[in-house]
Amino acid sequence: MLKGALIGIGRLGRVHYQDLIDFEKKRDDLKFVAICDIDPAKLEGKHSARSNVDNTANDSLDLSRFNLYTDYDEMLEREELDFVVLAIPTDLHSPFAIKAMEKGVNVFSEKPMAHTAEAARAMVECAERTGMKLQIGHVLRFWPEYIYLKEITENETFGKTISAHYWRGGYQDHVANPSYENWIIDKNRGGGGLFDQHVHDADLILWLYDMPKAVFTQGKEIFEQSANDVMLTTYVYGDKVITARDDTACKGYPFNYGYEVSFEKAMVRYENNVVTVWPEHEKPYTPDTDKYRFYSHAYYTELEYFMDAIKNDTKIERATPEQGYATIRLVEAEAESAATALPVVPKN
Ligand SMILES: NC(=O)c1ccc[n+]([C@@H]2O[C@H](COP(=O)([O-])OP(=O)(O)OC[C@H]3O[C@@H](n4cnc5c(N)ncnc54)[C@H](O)[C@@H]3O)[C@@H](O)[C@H]2O)c1
Repeated sequence: MLKGALIGIGRLGRVHYQDLIDFEKKRDDLKFVAICDIDPAKLEGKHSARSNVDNTANDSLDLSRFNLYTDYDEMLEREELDFVVLAIPTDLHSPFAIKAMEKGVNVFSEKPMAHTAEAARAMVECAERTGMKLQIGHVLRFWPEYIYLKEITENETFGKTISAHYWRGGYQDHVANPSYENWIIDKNRGGGGLFDQHVHDADLILWLYDMPKAVFTQGKEIFEQSANDVMLTTYVYGDKVITARDDTACKGYPFNYGYEVSFEKAMVRYENNVVTVWPEHEKPYTPDTDKYRFYSHAYYTELEYFMDAIKNDTKIERATPEQGYATIRLVEAEAESAATALPVVPKN
């Protein structure tokens, strides 16, 4: 029986909360025992924090059956846990993950892995030293339409990649639906839109094409104290043209994401949750991406992958600490490029 706790029951924490509850219903090898959140209001279950992910739990939650903590250290001291799921501000991922692993607890940490490459490296080193499993919430690696793209890119189903553009963004109301202490729009805690949201596409780009030779990024601060809330990066590979854009400021516009990839023999586009392939000399069609859909949504699948790795003691090969660390090095290079208006070579 795996015993687990959720740390942070804010906007995304509520998504993981619902998934952990669903897990308990579906599987008999998990016991969701404790929740920790520094904000007592969240532990009363009354808070109505909302993420841009669709299965967010209901506004009002009855958390009375859980062991509830406002203090993480106390929770780690008192509970006997196999894993924690971290859904807390990004600057806390590294210290919280390290504390858990040092105590023999496996960690699923939300993306971005950390707010600096140094903090991410400390997590990698700790996972190696303690032998604990550490998975990063790079959910696109579990997302059917992105797995499809990975497969057609790797197999060269439509030939080699010529160019690609990735996008993500939508309006975020930081007044009506704020993050804890507005950490998400504090460049020292969340890193702004580039680190917080575009990091999904940066990780995808690494997964698909490996580290670029250089990046050139333009960014604009929209929220005071934040950074690169609107940004565009060109990734220099030499043999293909790759760009990504993120906009966390577009007023009124709903959250959206997608890709447009030109291969030698087809154009493939993903938008509004539908993939369309336009092959050369043939009619466009929608490929079957459902074969990569293992549960209703990828947030559940990534957690299930993590639980299975603990239960069966298998190696985590998707969304690993090393991949998360590489992604932070890439977004750090992008932030440096935006700040200096110069191309930057990502660090090894
Ligand atoms: N994978 C995704 O698609 C996705 C989507 C949204 C957010 N996220 C990530 O999830 C994480 C949380 O984001 P969010 O939007 O839910 O933020 P949030 O501010 O809504 O929630 C964070 C929670 O952590 C709690 N918290 C803060 N400090 C704490 C401490 N010291 N101890 C215990 N609890 C503490 C807060 O009270 C809050 O409830 C971030 O890393 C974010 O990047 C991922």
